[in-house]
Amino acid sequence: MAAALEISNLQAWYGESHILHNVNMTVQPGEVVTLLGRNGAGRTTTLRAIMGLTGARKGSIKVNGEEAIGLPTHRIAHLGIGYCPEERGIFSSLSTEENLMLPPHLNGADQGMSVAEIYAMFPNLEERKHSQGTRLSGGEQQMLAVARILRTGARLLLLDEISEGLAPVIVQGLARMITTLKSKGYTIVMVEQNFRFAAPLADRFYVMEHGQIVETFVASELSAKMPVLTELLGV
Ligand SMILES: Nc1ncnc2c1ncn2[C@@H]1O[C@H](COP(=O)(O)OP(=O)(O)OP(=O)(O)O)[C@@H](O)[C@H]1O
Ligand SMILES: [Mg+2]
Repeated sequence: MAAALEISNLQAWYGESHILHNVNMTVQPGEVVTLLGRNGAGRTTTLRAIMGLTGARKGSIKVNGEEAIGLPTHRIAHLGIGYCPEERGIFSSLSTEENLMLPPHLNGADQGMSVAEIYAMFPNLEERKHSQGTRLSGGEQQMLAVARILRTGARLLLLDEISEGLAPVIVQGLARMITTLKSKGYTIVMVEQNFRFAAPLADRFYVMEHGQIVETFVASELSAKMPVLTELLGV
């Protein structure tokens, strides 16, 4: 079976700024992988480069074996990728349910989750289905942002700092959501600053520094890697 995501020698620029230098990363179907790094390491840029949202890119990005490096963003999404950017992009004038009705189904992707399935997974979104986007708490907005992606049928999820700025009890809810999605076979790449949130969830870890991957290890190696992580991330 092809990797869900196979990135080789990826370089990316914003204008003249060369941000990513030879990023290599492979994610198998059903894996949860966490991309760690200090501020400005290039984690968001990696997710944006996968989606074709940076300037120039070089190298290879294969999604389920298909080369995506030359494709425009909408074609990349249609390979079955759902990108949840840090800024969430909830339509504030629309209700929760209207936000859930908007996303298009991706060609060729599995059927997305129905609104009923979404409500079964996120009961608090059902309670808030008539509330306007602006009325939702940060945690509810974050869940809605992920739920909208699940509606498209994407099976590979790129999640940028979903726990950021949320209260611990809400972050626990997001951790349960990741565990549920993993049990449903979704493939997840999470960018996280919150190491304590990411650590128990991930099958594998990548650490970035200055636009390169500087460490990679599996969950069972985590405790042995703590001294290195402390040095690289200050965790
Ligand atoms: N639109 C942009 N134009 C030019 N440079 C950018 C742009 N966005 C980010 N950069 C630069 O690219 C580098 C990597 O930024 P990136 O946003 O990928 O970091 P990050 O690892 O996600 O960290 P954080 O989210 O904590 O800022 C930084 O030096 C940043 O200043
Ligand atoms: Mg970032």
